[in-house]
Amino acid sequence: MDKNISAHIVSAGSYVPEQILTNKELEMFLDTSDEWITSRTGIKQRHIVPRGHNTPASELGSKAAQVALEKAGMDCSQIDGIICATFTPDYFFPSTACRIQAALGMKNGFAFDISAACAGFVYALNTANSMIISGQAKNMLVIGSEVITKTLDWTDRNTCILFGDGAGAVVVSAKEDSSRGIISSYIASDGSLGDILKLPAWGESRFMHMNGNDVFKHAVRLMSESTQKVLEDAHMDLEQIDLIIPHQANIRIIQALASLLKFPMEKIVTNMDRYGNTSSASIPIALEEAWNEGRIKEGSKVVLSCIGGGITIGSSLIIF
Ligand code: UT7
Repeated sequence: MDKNISAHIVSAGSYVPEQILTNKELEMFLDTSDEWITSRTGIKQRHIVPRGHNTPASELGSKAAQVALEKAGMDCSQIDGIICATFTPDYFFPSTACRIQAALGMKNGFAFDISAACAGFVYALNTANSMIISGQAKNMLVIGSEVITKTLDWTDRNTCILFGDGAGAVVVSAKEDSSRGIISSYIASDGSLGDILKLPAWGESRFMHMNGNDVFKHAVRLMSESTQKVLEDAHMDLEQIDLIIPHQANIRIIQALASLLKFPMEKIVTNMDRYGNTSSASIPIALEEAWNEGRIKEGSKVVLSCIGGGITIGSSLIIF
């Protein structure tokens, strides 16, 4: 292991399906309102794969990966491995990452999936970081891709209004500059809380189930604790952080997080108004947008933070 080597996010890309489902359209078949959804969640619309078309997560993921590769000025032959975070895989096997590898026309390297629900992207990034600093890979694609609308009960207003489909990807590369890159990274889980948010693989009810109030409470506490943890590990304070990119589940969760951390909302990236909750894709989509808008520059200190079904928890501190 070379102590000078660190893993740098060199580019980000995203892809969302064209079709948009607005809150107003939900009002047409569900006992809900634009006013309720907007005030309780911050969500105004979400992108969805066309109903009746079997668009797989690998299709969205490979399109996001192509954008990230293009921005990095790289070809897939330079990539040593793909990790895809998803809870909506194309198949139990082959993995969605293998399907993305095939879609990219990539013959080399390895590919595997990670299942950590909405914390999947940070879990995958953490894994790629470990593989890069241990010398097992030099360039990796880390992808979060979800077709969540397939898993929703469209008569359950507690869940179906929250989610959207999409994918985000980053290229992570080994660089001989340990003053930047992924500075600290933390993942954890609490399996005893598994029942508050779940999607059964077998049985009659193959829809997502959620106790929203419980998830809300744990989300604020755990995202705050894991943010503090990566700061401590990096010997840094929140005052030094330029941007937090949290998982985009609910604007009220993010406002409560900001108030608990005493961190200004202006330095927190939010885009759930346009995409809803895209689970493992939410952080890389928001990251790409922030980068495109110039909110991330060379030297920017950024914290990613999320929780997901499991319960899974993850944060990363990155200097760009
Ligand atoms: O990525 C992690 C995944 N999930 C999350 O992060 C979700 C976390 N939780 C949340 O975002 C919020 O708990 C929700 C948005 C899911 C719910 O918001 P809430 O403020 O916690 O509402 P509630 O569940 O306490 O429900 C309040 C009322 C209830 O009616 P009653 O019992 O007071 O008459 C619900 O039946 O709102 C009703 N309600 C709705 N009304 C209109 C629930 N869903 C809807 C809806 N439209 N879509």
